[in-house]
Amino acid sequence: METAWRTVPVRLGDRAYDVVVGHGARSALEGLIPASARRVAVVTQDGIPFSVDPGREHRVFTIPAGEVHKTMATVEGLVRQFAAWGMTRADCVVAVGGGIVTDVAGFAAASFLRGIAVVHVPTTLLGMIDAAIGGKCGVNLPEGKNLVGAFWQPSGVVCDLNALTTLPERELRCGNGEMAKYHFLTSLDLAAMALTDRVAACVQIKATAVEGDERETISSDNSAGRAVLNYGHTLGHAIEIATDHRLLHGEAVAVGLAFAARLGQSLGRIDADRVALHDAVLADYELSAGLPEGLAADDLMALMRRDKKAINGLTFVLDGPVGVQVVRGLTDDVVRGVLQDFGAR
Ligand SMILES: NC(=O)c1ccc[n+]([C@@H]2O[C@H](COP(=O)([O-])OP(=O)(O)OC[C@H]3O[C@@H](n4cnc5c(N)ncnc54)[C@H](O)[C@@H]3O)[C@@H](O)[C@H]2O)c1
Ligand SMILES: [Zn+2]
Repeated sequence: METAWRTVPVRLGDRAYDVVVGHGARSALEGLIPASARRVAVVTQDGIPFSVDPGREHRVFTIPAGEVHKTMATVEGLVRQFAAWGMTRADCVVAVGGGIVTDVAGFAAASFLRGIAVVHVPTTLLGMIDAAIGGKCGVNLPEGKNLVGAFWQPSGVVCDLNALTTLPERELRCGNGEMAKYHFLTSLDLAAMALTDRVAACVQIKATAVEGDERETISSDNSAGRAVLNYGHTLGHAIEIATDHRLLHGEAVAVGLAFAARLGQSLGRIDADRVALHDAVLADYELSAGLPEGLAADDLMALMRRDKKAINGLTFVLDGPVGVQVVRGLTDDVVRGVLQDFGAR
């Protein structure tokens, strides 16, 4: 029986904040909103059955669901409503939803009146352990995903695990793909932990990476930065594109983790038991570890090369004797060989 909440501090000097994790944690929300805020704009989506009480005058603004609405137009709609309501720089936005809501509302908060406070209340597992932590926010352009945005740290984050009870199974599985990744970024036994501790541990890993590299300025081969968070993502991103997004992000990352383990093994960085552990963690989360049928090694290689903008060979994030690290300069032959053994045409 777990009842206690966990508080994970994100230590960023004058931009530091707490992430509160637990069942019923939404009652911590009022305390995370700056005392100056007279009004709170709650930004959410229809269909998210999770309400919050900011403890002061507030209005609810809904944005449409789906990646196609993560746009400048949606942000413009929001900030115009903030202006029409008369919100001031002392007021606050509270984002209640998945990564789309926290990205859009975060960017609206970052730009309205040159920046007002925001508190995130992620309601998806992916939002809790990833999107709502670290201050990245923004929107898509027709030219590409997340091309406009800001680093805008929230004043606090509330991960109320009760929100997950209504989350569709496939969305939960997507969060599980990222959560599986965290198993290999820590020496803690996440599998043995109760949910509150496990989510808090994942938040802590992301927080630590952000503290070391707030604006992602450390070069991508520095393992102290955010780069390790891309474990499983090199092939994962390629699979998302190669399947025309038939596999969702978290599902593709799961396959990417299974592949990265095998690549690590082929380079002698990890042994068969560690590969088996990858497969076991994925199976525990009911994630498929196999490459979807019919994908061509050539196509995946081309997509992976684009993903990492590699100059000399491919760059991967790989597990190894001292943990997950960035490994550069892998030759095409090695990667292609493992990819073919993994089922690529
Ligand atoms: N800023 C970052 O650091 C960061 C990191 C990772 C991902 N992201 C972004 O996050 C987005 C993906 O986020 P996501 O996976 O949370 O998807 P999402 O925000 O689209 O949410 C998934 C679906 O679940 C619904 N939903 C949310 N909470 C619910 C609940 N509790 N009960 C029932 N339904 C609920 C939503 O309305 C939506 O339809 C992408 O746009 C991605 O680019 C950002
Ligand atoms: Zn991811």
